[in-house]
Amino acid sequence: MASLTITPLTDHTGAEVTGIDFTEPVDGETRARLSAAFAERHVLVMRGQHFTPDQFKVAATIFGELQQHDKREHHVPGHPDVYYVSNDEIVNGKRIIPGESFHTDHSNHPRPPKATMLFAVELPSRGGDTQYVNMHAAYRDLPEATRHRIDGLKAVHVYFSKYSPRSLGHIDEESLRRVPPPGIHPLVRTHPENGRKALYLNPVRMESILGLEDTDALALIDALMQHATQKKYEYRHKWRPGDWVMWDNRSVMHQANADYDMSERRYLYRLMLKGEAPI
Ligand SMILES: [Fe+2]
Repeated sequence: MASLTITPLTDHTGAEVTGIDFTEPVDGETRARLSAAFAERHVLVMRGQHFTPDQFKVAATIFGELQQHDKREHHVPGHPDVYYVSNDEIVNGKRIIPGESFHTDHSNHPRPPKATMLFAVELPSRGGDTQYVNMHAAYRDLPEATRHRIDGLKAVHVYFSKYSPRSLGHIDEESLRRVPPPGIHPLVRTHPENGRKALYLNPVRMESILGLEDTDALALIDALMQHATQKKYEYRHKWRPGDWVMWDNRSVMHQANADYDMSERRYLYRLMLKGEAPI
């Protein structure tokens, strides 16, 4: 095996992993290095992979246990536990680009997924980047008074907030019935592996903040989102064929971009890993 190399992509977020074929078994020492890099860098970009859906699942479990997606009907044909993202879903005449505003995945769950990962199967010739913003750095830079104000607050995360800035596309009745009860999560959570505090925000799913009027809650979320999505907190991923990208939903928000030619197909396998109740 070529030697494993882990290279930071910005000074705060992202690391590129090369020199490893994840269709081969991965030894304990390598797993430990990758897990440590993930806790420290929040986004890992594993280059040059070539997965079937089954191989992707096996590789994913290096980092944890798979978590089922809410939209159970939406999966790679023949692989009920491998989800995909694509640009070919049209709802009411409008194309749905999944993830087209900053969010953290499945925060409506009482125990939201710790990580999400994508494997690039088909990419447009240009555009379609994924942006990540570092919620540890965003929290750290808040004024003392703001940190004090939000440290004890909790938000209610539902499947689809009445205040969501975008649609989530179609979910069938059966999947909707299986969606768990809302998650009630702190606005500021402590990462269980690196011990750092992070903002935990998701306008798509946040329905209210306990103890605040909705207008005040929305104004607070808006102000925090404006702060947290500044370019200085960002790693912007430009996809290459064979990229396997995994991000930590506990320490970054992410968003997709619909800035490419929609006659070209963008298709990626997607898996999530089980997480813990945010504290
Ligand atoms: Fe997402």
